[in-house]
Amino acid sequence: MSYKVLRKEKITPSAFLLEVEDERAKKVKPGQYALVQWNDEAEPIPLSFLNVSENSYTFLVDVVGRTTLEMMELLEDEIKFIEAPCGSPFPVEHYGKVLLISKNWGIAPLMNVGRALKEAGNEVYLIHVGENEERVYLMEEAGEEFGEVLLFTEDGSMGEEGNTEWAFRYFLENYDKPDLVVSAGSNLDGQIVSKVAKEKGIKHIAMVNAHILDANGLCLACRVLVEDKEKLACIDGPWFEGDKVNWDYAIQKEAFYREEEDKALKEAIKQLRRLKAKREG
Ligand SMILES: Cc1cc2nc3c(=O)[nH]c(=O)nc-3n(C[C@H](O)[C@H](O)[C@H](O)COP(=O)(O)OP(=O)(O)OC[C@H]3O[C@@H](n4cnc5c(N)ncnc54)[C@H](O)[C@@H]3O)c2cc1C
Ligand code: FES
Repeated sequence: MSYKVLRKEKITPSAFLLEVEDERAKKVKPGQYALVQWNDEAEPIPLSFLNVSENSYTFLVDVVGRTTLEMMELLEDEIKFIEAPCGSPFPVEHYGKVLLISKNWGIAPLMNVGRALKEAGNEVYLIHVGENEERVYLMEEAGEEFGEVLLFTEDGSMGEEGNTEWAFRYFLENYDKPDLVVSAGSNLDGQIVSKVAKEKGIKHIAMVNAHILDANGLCLACRVLVEDKEKLACIDGPWFEGDKVNWDYAIQKEAFYREEEDKALKEAIKQLRRLKAKREG
């Protein structure tokens, strides 16, 4: 069974929106993700639901390596395999004032979760931190949906210059203290948010990134440590209480395949160049 691509739209030089037709969209709950394998040879990768409708859903895909690059350049009308919905939903409750802090693609799950939190009567604010202007997206949409949206880039190419710690501390100095902070998009940034939230006595729920291979609890690749107990990010997560996560372990595990991932990306760039040259004759 394959899945029809309804829309593929490049929104920055390194990111695109991807809308896919799938009846299982009805079953999706806030904060869940899908495991997407775009063709038979591709590695399955987890992508969070950004928007969900009756029979389709939309992902925001940030191009960071081989699979996401090939999806941006080569994916056309259909996706070979999608496991969905996956993961435990976000605990949507009435918390009061909620601050969302996204890094790069983290804005996709946070827009999805933020909408549900707003519907549950919470006052929702968003800080987006992009590495640079290419990692800034959906700001207009976020501005229409949430109370206040603050934009920072680490290199100062758009919005205010600042990293996640700087942005979070700026918010705490200039706005009322939130009852909950929710972060997504990076373990390094999740760890920083966790540190500041703990210091200020604010509850923190974080999306923890782990290598997700099968999304069904069988391969054990996505193990993370939460309160010193092993949890599976694919089914117990991806959302965990930030102060209970062993961030050093998650960050160390995430870097484990970096050499192979860099090699695969270089090879993919070479192959795409050859393909382009062949097409241009
Ligand atoms: C629960 C969850 C939800 C996510 N949602 C989104 C999203 O909405 N949009 C988005 O752009 N990205 C999302 N990601 C990250 C995305 O899955 C990775 O960027 C993608 O797998 C990279 O694959 P690649 O081959 O292009 O890059 P690679 O070069 O293979 O990897 C680059 C980096 O991506 C991460 N990664 C690689 N393979 C996996 C994998 N199988 N599982 C998890 N992480 C991996 C690692 O940190 C790695 O260092 C999500 C990750 C998780 C865990
Ligand atoms: S991805 Fe295999 S157990 Fe979680």
